[in-house]
Amino acid sequence: MSKRKRILSGIQPSGTIHIGNYFGAVENWVHLMKDYDCFFTIVDLHAITVTYDQALLPKRVWDAALDNMAAGLDPDKCTIFVQSHVPEHTELCWLLNCVTPLGELGRMTQFKEKSERERENVTAGLLNYPILQAADILIYKADAVPVGEDQAQHLEFTREVARRFNGRFGGYFPEPATLIGRGARVMGLDGDSKMSKSMGNHIGVVEAPDSIWEKLRPAKTDEARKRRTDPGDPDRCNIFSYHKLVTPDGEIKEIVAGCTGAKIGCLDCKKVFFNNLMKVLDPIRERRQALEKDPERVREALREGARKARAVARETLDGAKKLMGLLG
Ligand code: TYM
Repeated sequence: MSKRKRILSGIQPSGTIHIGNYFGAVENWVHLMKDYDCFFTIVDLHAITVTYDQALLPKRVWDAALDNMAAGLDPDKCTIFVQSHVPEHTELCWLLNCVTPLGELGRMTQFKEKSERERENVTAGLLNYPILQAADILIYKADAVPVGEDQAQHLEFTREVARRFNGRFGGYFPEPATLIGRGARVMGLDGDSKMSKSMGNHIGVVEAPDSIWEKLRPAKTDEARKRRTDPGDPDRCNIFSYHKLVTPDGEIKEIVAGCTGAKIGCLDCKKVFFNNLMKVLDPIRERRQALEKDPERVREALREGARKARAVARETLDGAKKLMGLLG
């Protein structure tokens, strides 16, 4: 029997998953479950590298589990777990800390951005964030990591960590490939920056339809199109970039013709998008509601996920410790 290739990916418990997470990563995870041995983790230890509310964290982790399972992660077909339930990640992180030059960490884009925002609280944990992420991946000897484009630098870094370890202690860790999802970089509703919960420019995957529509209605389109009778340019319209994620090809052609020929107004165009988006989100919202009524299923999935993950993680960790002269 041929061994299935392995996938690992992670998501922060930031309150709710948004359509950036979904089209950048989670949708891909759901497809990959068919052919790969998949590990998905809710990275609570990464969430504490910036200022956070400890009273809220357990609920956020819970919500992330519900959202991801509702989005299609099936615990019968993948291993889903909370990062801190598998303490081997932090132990490997320490070992990798000791083979990683300090200079590289300060150059990471996400470190620079977050430390700019967190001026009063730039912790060693924030600096070491990419090493913990490398440990998350390498501890499962993952062959590939499905993510959105914003994680590409962290994955390049992970490969460097693997190379450095392998160079010094012998070939041990595979260098994982980066798999970028369909929505590589979904822009926020402001049209100016990447969609993210912290920017408040997001559409939640399980957000109420009314609330989504209230956000969409005033959202920026092609700014050069001042009146309905002006022809628009879909390539300069943020809503059109959303259409490409959910609208079937035939309808996309109609949208392009309608917009460039000034036959469809921006509000009507948004309605088409909204309806197509709801076709994706309605079943997820419904599954979320069903899971809320069955919390034991979610708890059991996370318990069993951590158990399976720990067995694999322990073995990799022990192998690394042996190579480093830490185990007989
Ligand atoms: P996080 O929680 O920010 O995002 C989870 C996944 O969603 C993708 N994503 C997006 N994709 C497209 N457009 C967007 N606007 C958008 N926003 C988010 C991210 O690329 C990511 O794939 N550091 C990671 C979590 C992590 C991890 C790991 C990932 C920890 N350990 C190991 C992979 C492997 C993060 O903060 O993702």
